[in-house]
Amino acid sequence: MKKTVIVGCGSIANVHAQSLAQLPDIELVAFADIIPEKASDFANKYTEGKAKVYSSLETMLDVEKPDVVHICTPHYLHVPMAIEAVKRGISFFSEKPPAISMEQFEELSSALDQANSSHAVHSGFCFQNRYNGTIKTTDELLTTGKLGKVTGARAFVTWRRDENYYKSDWKGKLATEGGGALINQSIHTLDLLLRYLGKPVNVKASLSNHHLEDIIEVEDTVEAVMSFANGERACFYASTAYACDAPVIMELQCERGRITIIDKTVTVYETDTPPQMINIEDDAGFGKNYWGNGHLACIKDFYEKLDSNIPFQNNLAGVRNTMETMMKIYSFR
Ligand SMILES: NC(=O)c1ccc[n+]([C@@H]2O[C@H](COP(=O)([O-])OP(=O)(O)OC[C@H]3O[C@@H](n4cnc5c(N)ncnc54)[C@H](O)[C@@H]3O)[C@@H](O)[C@H]2O)c1
Repeated sequence: MKKTVIVGCGSIANVHAQSLAQLPDIELVAFADIIPEKASDFANKYTEGKAKVYSSLETMLDVEKPDVVHICTPHYLHVPMAIEAVKRGISFFSEKPPAISMEQFEELSSALDQANSSHAVHSGFCFQNRYNGTIKTTDELLTTGKLGKVTGARAFVTWRRDENYYKSDWKGKLATEGGGALINQSIHTLDLLLRYLGKPVNVKASLSNHHLEDIIEVEDTVEAVMSFANGERACFYASTAYACDAPVIMELQCERGRITIIDKTVTVYETDTPPQMINIEDDAGFGKNYWGNGHLACIKDFYEKLDSNIPFQNNLAGVRNTMETMMKIYSFR
């Protein structure tokens, strides 16, 4: 049985608590939030009041001594909170982004190295879209080799975030959110694009704030062009200035055709063959549709790897390329 706790009892923590309730051999023993009423609500809603409630992460970790802490707080707190866990030999599963700067990321990396020199401390980051059925299908299609290698990719994220969304104590501010459309809304899509192309050798980008100029400090729009070791090229565009939360569009150009992924449909265009549409039925998820519904699969995989003491694909090493590329894009700010 694994003892688990959650820090940060806001929107996304609901999805973590609901996912954990579906998994065997996990006991959700405590919740922490700087607003203790929020932690109390979670304890009542998800554990019939049995879980303990804390207003401080450190106290919760010291008293409960859990195996895992889920970090569901604002961006700037992910690394400091993960380090608090790691220092105590406690594994963590953090919401995205992994960090708001490379300095933070390297600080966490050093803390993990130091802790792991005495015993296994696992890291996990919530890149749940890696578990989408469309991505599994795309991986399988590429593995057959029929389409050849990926030579390029493009992705578009066009969502809507208005003034009301930014009526928050941490969103829209560089110091606490770390960025906007890229680090918050489109990091998952950047991560997927890099999954198929690897580490870029060159990145050019521009970032702007087109529609909330006097309201937020962060970008509402980002575009980037990336090139890779064998001449592959990627174009990436994300904006939160659109009219609605439209489905993300991603396309992989291959040597003998291409694959498009739009919402839950994968379409394969193989040279000299009629297009083939594959509709994916993912298991019902929790939370908003545009978050993707991979949280349960991602969290389940994290615990399975933890139990077997084998590396989880979304551990610190597994998200480094996404983190580094994102910060390269931000260097054009
Ligand atoms: N994986 C996804 O697709 C996805 C979707 C939504 C949100 N998220 C991520 O989840 C995180 C939280 O987002 P949210 O929308 O739930 O935010 P939120 O503002 O609704 O919740 C954050 C919670 O953290 C609490 N908190 C703040 N400082 C704290 C502290 N020092 N100690 C304890 N608690 C503290 C707040 O009181 C609040 O309850 C963000 O990193 C966000 O990017 C990820």
